[in-house]
Amino acid sequence: MENEVLKAIRERRSVRQFLDRDVPDELVREVLTAGSWAPSGLNNQPWRFIVVRDEKTKAAMAEHTHYGHTLRGAPVLICVFMDAEASYDRTKDAMGIGACNQNILLAAHSLGLGTVWLGEILKDKEDVRKILGAPDTYELMAVICLGYPEPRDRGSERKPLEELAFSERYGEGFSGPSR
Ligand SMILES: Cc1cc2nc3c(=O)[nH]c(=O)nc-3n(C[C@H](O)[C@H](O)[C@H](O)COP(=O)(O)O)c2cc1C
Repeated sequence: MENEVLKAIRERRSVRQFLDRDVPDELVREVLTAGSWAPSGLNNQPWRFIVVRDEKTKAAMAEHTHYGHTLRGAPVLICVFMDAEASYDRTKDAMGIGACNQNILLAAHSLGLGTVWLGEILKDKEDVRKILGAPDTYELMAVICLGYPEPRDRGSERKPLEELAFSERYGEGFSGPSR
């Protein structure tokens, strides 16, 4: 089975090398809008975004992750926060923000852009929040690097569904059609 959505889901890959080419504001806006159309519990839309293009800010953020090289090489960083003032349930809000992030990744891919979702930087989330001047109700949830992808083969693997899913009860082999 194939359609544009399924194709985008399957073909999106994390991109860690970007061309030295700017991303127009209009496309950043499009990508953020896609993020904002994610589902959230009670439709509370707990995500907030800070878009970073400034090299000095990127350099300061890069000090707080092993992936500093990737971060500095991306023309745009989308810093995704959860706003405690909008939050009603930490687990559900974090899940909503995960959905938001995936919308961002897929929307970018559909526009010919590449992304990588950085999570390792969260170990220093308070430092990053301060660098960005965000209020203390904002909790950093991800930094998404965005840019035009350097062309190269990017492979990835997934476990077969048989290792992940059961039919009716735990332990019962999944009998859906294989892909
Ligand atoms: C919650 C989360 C955290 C991640 N953190 C990092 C990270 O810190 N650095 C990085 O290079 N990739 C990071 N990734 C990207 C994963 O490594 C990548 O999605 C995975 O290897 C599968 O590859 P694919 O995205 O190309 O399918 C993260 C992805 C997620 C969802």
